[in-house]
Parts: sequence; C-alpha cells; structure tokens
Amino acid sequence: MEKKIRIGILGLGTVGSKVVDLIQVNKERAKIEYGIELEIVGIMIRDRNKKRNVATKGIRLTENIDDIVKNPDIDICIECMGGVGTEQTKNAVIMALCNHKHVIMSSKKCLALYGKEIFLAAKENNRQLRIEASVGGGIPICSTIMHMSQGETIKKIFGIVNATSNYILTAMNNDKTYEEALTQAKKNGLAENNPEEDVDGLDAAYKLCILVRLCMKLDVNINDIQPVSITKLSVNDMKAAKEEGKIIKPIFYANVNEKEEMECFVGPYAVSKENPLAFVNDNNNMIFVEGKYSGLRAFYGQGAGASPTASVIYDDLMDIIK
Ligand SMILES: NC(=O)c1ccc[n+]([C@@H]2O[C@H](COP(=O)([O-])OP(=O)(O)OC[C@H]3O[C@@H](n4cnc5c(N)ncnc54)[C@H](OP(=O)(O)O)[C@@H]3O)[C@@H](O)[C@H]2O)c1
Repeated sequence: MEKKIRIGILGLGTVGSKVVDLIQVNKERAKIEYGIELEIVGIMIRDRNKKRNVATKGIRLTENIDDIVKNPDIDICIECMGGVGTEQTKNAVIMALCNHKHVIMSSKKCLALYGKEIFLAAKENNRQLRIEASVGGGIPICSTIMHMSQGETIKKIFGIVNATSNYILTAMNNDKTYEEALTQAKKNGLAENNPEEDVDGLDAAYKLCILVRLCMKLDVNINDIQPVSITKLSVNDMKAAKEEGKIIKPIFYANVNEKEEMECFVGPYAVSKENPLAFVNDNNNMIFVEGKYSGLRAFYGQGAGASPTASVIYDDLMDIIK
C-alpha cells in the first residue's frame, strides 16, 4: 500500500501553479518509483476570484493561512508566496514548522532577512527546511552547498545570480539601449512590471545573503551590501569595455579575506572576454564556489522561470520524502 504524503501550498502564482502542475503530472510516477501517493490538501491564495491557469479540482483553496500552516492533515508545506508580504511569509513558514510540517521555501527576500530565525525554528522543531528555489532558478546550488560544506571550508563564492539583469546586459552588449532591453525582458516574461529589485541589485544581494549563510555560516546584513544598479549603464559603457577586451556582467561575490573579514559586492563589473562569466548570457546564471579541498567548482543553468524553479521545488519535495 502506498504511503500518503499530504501537501499544503502557500501561493498559486507563477511558481505555485507550475508546482501544482508538476505534482499532478508526476503522481503515477511517484506511486510506481517510490510507493507514495502525493495529495495536495489545500492551497492558500489571496484572491479567490482570480482566474488560475492550473486545474485545482478537488483541492481546497483558502484565503486563511492557518488552514494550511496549522492543518494537522498536512505533512509538508510548500511556500510560493512571493516577497511582497515578507513578514507574513516568515510568520507563515515558522508557524508551519512549529506545527510539525517540513517546509520548502522559495522566497529569497524572506530567507535573506529572516533566514536565521527560520533555520532555528526548523532545528528546534526537528523539521526539514529546503530552500532550493530561492537561488539560481533551476541550478541545484543550495542542496549542493549544504551537502558539500559538511567537510569543506568555503571562503569564496561568486558569479551571476540575477537572470533579469543578465538578460538586459546581454541585450545591451548587442547594442540595445537600457530601455529597449528592459522592454524586451518584460515582453519575454523575464522582468516584472516593477523590476527595481532586480535591476538595482537587491535580488542578487538577497541571494548573496542566503549563499553566505549556507557556505560560511555567517549572517550578512542586507544593509551592508549596498548593491550598484545597472540602470545607469549606457551602450557607450558597454562599447568602452569591449574596446578594452572586456564585457560588463551583473556580478556578485562574497569573500572571506586573510583577516577573516567578509568582502561583498553586487553590481555591474567588466570581466575579461575570456572569463567563463562572459559567456553566460540571457536568463542563465553561473555560480562559482571555491573550497579549501575541492578547489573551484562552477554551476550553470537557467536562473529563473516557472518550470526550472518548480522542478527544483519538486526535487526538494522528493528529498524530504526520501
Ligand atoms: N517567478 C520566478 O521565476 C521565480 C524564480 C525563483 C524564485 N521565485 C520566488 O518564488 C516566489 C513566488 O514567486 P511568483 O513569481 O510565483 O509570485 P506570484 O506570481 O506573485 O505569486 C504569489 C502568490 O502568492 C499568493 N499570496 C498570498 N499572500 C500573499 C502575500 N502576502 N504576498 C504575496 N503573495 C501572496 C498570491 O495570491 P493571489 O494569486 O491570489 O494574488 C499568488 O498566488 C517568490 O518568493 C519568488 O521570489 C520566483
């Protein structure tokens, strides 16, 4: 007989809808390969009248968070709420952990601001917390670092983690103005209507905080990062860099120096045209992790989008179940 796994989901937007879709598509496979029956018990939404682009027949839709996070019939809670109500997201996931649910999170802003509290709540309640969707889209960077850092000392991590900015700068490197590149990004679903957090570097700064916590077990205060925006760049800046054999990319890095001090940067940076990061275009991300024993390792893939993000959430779900 299959073991039933009862799932509650917070949010049914771009990512949440794809997660529901993926769970439904894989139901038979989960039964055959793992002997488990996946059941979505309920989904928390904000607006009941909104048209949804995924089938939710037989699933309870609720506007009350408690119906999910305090529901004794739910084993695993998947958060796809978005960063708008970050404090509400934090309260919801902590409540779910306190109510003995394993939790999968996607909100990078919430994890950057409240990660310490959330990880502590998971530990105190002896529950699993998975956060793969918060950084790198479809790149399984968080679980890789969690796995690798058990016996490794990581002092440096750097690369490209913001798909929107990378898409815009790729277009600008092909002679588009910032405005033209942004319009193209919005048209292709790679920039939100209000893209400020992406283009001003805050999104990458949130991800830096999460990666530093995982790699170095340190808390970075988001206010100490002061990211540099890409909005002031012009086509002439891109051309000037090219004349020097360089390409401007949206870079982040975090490095623990010889004095054991943390050095962080988020913003546009001219890398040599031979640098592997110069070849990372459009919505792709690339993250380098330097370990004392394993040396420099690189991870590459699509950094955003509903499908890659939902796919790593599904992997988190399977990991928890296993
Ligand atoms: N989109 C991506 O490519 C991507 C990639 C990686 C990570 N993420 C992360 O995944 C999360 C979800 O992103 P998304 O693009 O799916 O967002 P979204 O489309 O805006 O969906 C958010 C969902 O949460 C619901 N919600 C309920 N209470 C909310 C609250 N207080 N604040 C905000 N939303 C609330 C909304 O309900 P209604 O539908 O009723 O309004 C909606 O269904 C975010 O944390 C984001 O950072 C997204």
